Amino acid sequence: MALIAPSILSADFARIGDAVRLAEAAGADLIHVDVMDGHFVPNLTLGPQLVAAVRRETRLPIDVHLMVEEPRRFVPLFHEAGADWISIHVEATAHLHKDLTMIRGLGRKAGAALNPATPIETLKEVLPELDFVLIMSVDPGWGGQAFIPSCRDKIRRLRDWIRAEGFRIPIEVDGGIKLDNAEDIIAAGMEIVVAGSAVYEAPDPAAAVKALKAIARKTS
Ligand code: DX5
Ligand code: ZN
Repeated sequence: MALIAPSILSADFARIGDAVRLAEAAGADLIHVDVMDGHFVPNLTLGPQLVAAVRRETRLPIDVHLMVEEPRRFVPLFHEAGADWISIHVEATAHLHKDLTMIRGLGRKAGAALNPATPIETLKEVLPELDFVLIMSVDPGWGGQAFIPSCRDKIRRLRDWIRAEGFRIPIEVDGGIKLDNAEDIIAAGMEIVVAGSAVYEAPDPAAAVKALKAIARKTS
């Protein structure tokens, strides 16, 4: 069954503890934290101290999405802060293999993230190093953008290719996932559902998490 990972980027930053606790109580599987450095993406967001604060509020695994240049510089800080899953962008490092190995060496789950324009084949030589792949289905930088339709086929091709290569690597999809498209994208191969605005801008965020869980249950 697909896992649900609410992204706190769309939560009220003055009430992050409440946002995390309500997601956990509603059945979320992971807490997704978007880290932006103002270089790799134009926006500037959350750091290790926020991850440490989230760590104190929940027992759920924390899924840290590093949208930063030279992610290797930051991996130890997020590891110490309590991140459980750490994804880095293939576009942001010249040493993808080394960086993924570093994350695994710290005992964390290592993921490679791909921007919408980045081909899946860039992962070919590091498939054995991956615990998950993160497919960006919007150009990273902000929550609340629309899902890019061509990403659906990219997810399907990635799922089929990973299988054909003989690996079992779950696909996380991030950007523009809503209650009305989640089922279709799960059918294409999404196994970890990141949802920011669909959860935290909903009138009832807990109900939105429950509705995504119900879709995941139905589709599995
Ligand atoms: C965008 C971030 C996403 C963001 C998704 O750059 O990586 O995780 O929170 O937000 P929604 O679900 O609103 O597209
Ligand atoms: Zn993200």
